[in-house]
Amino acid sequence: MTNDGLDSGSDGAAPPVVLKLGGSLITEKDRPETLDDERLAAACDAIADALADGTVDRLVVVHGGGSFGHHHASEHGVSTSAGTRDPAAVADVHGAMTTLNRAVLDRLRDRDVSAVPVHPLSLAARPDGAGGDLDLPLSSTSTLLGEGFVPVLHGDGVATAGAGVTVVSGDELVVELAAGLGARRVGVCSIVPGVLDAGGEVIPAVDSFDAVADALGASDATDVSGGMAAKVRELLALDAPAYVFGADGLGPFLRGEDAGTRVD
Ligand code: IPE
Repeated sequence: MTNDGLDSGSDGAAPPVVLKLGGSLITEKDRPETLDDERLAAACDAIADALADGTVDRLVVVHGGGSFGHHHASEHGVSTSAGTRDPAAVADVHGAMTTLNRAVLDRLRDRDVSAVPVHPLSLAARPDGAGGDLDLPLSSTSTLLGEGFVPVLHGDGVATAGAGVTVVSGDELVVELAAGLGARRVGVCSIVPGVLDAGGEVIPAVDSFDAVADALGASDATDVSGGMAAKVRELLALDAPAYVFGADGLGPFLRGEDAGTRVD
């Protein structure tokens, strides 16, 4: 199913746009618990403008962890595949992420966006264990959307069978939300301007993993390329068109234009 914005979601309402703001965009990744206030403000401006203009009417925002979540997660040895049973570790990771979430919410509400928090730790689970699939109940998010709110989720800790609490990334949440809510369009905004080829140029469109596997493997930025390869694979599996773009692409994406790399 491909949504063009005119057909209805499962509850009869217009399908939402799902947008991830990467932790690299909204925080200073090398300084623990430090916002990139300028970039965060610009992203919130773009979101507020799109909602005020009506170019987007239903929006779910997800943000990553950047220097808030990752710092605490690595300190405690917690990842998407390694869990902890230490409640203080869970409190550290979740606490840092809710602090970041509050900062995002404050800036959105300052701009008259009806943003409300949805905390994955309180909702989600990995019933099949560490590294396993995510179960994310969506009734809270879809009901909030129907009531005119903009739900704002975030990377978080997640209850994990046999492992205590692991990390759920913002990218996993985006995929679950997009598939479960029948998203119209999906946007992943970070500091990378798109999916890059081996020469560092943005690839305008990707329609199969094989076509870009070499380029992604050849990138010298291992962290980004590993993350990007996994991201592209997951986004390709979605029905909705997805876009991977940098800060400059956010306005165009929210206006319904192409931005960065289209993954479809
Ligand atoms: C990480 O989320 C969340 C935690 C470490 C708790 P993401 O993996 O989506 O964060 P970014 O966007 O890469 O920073």
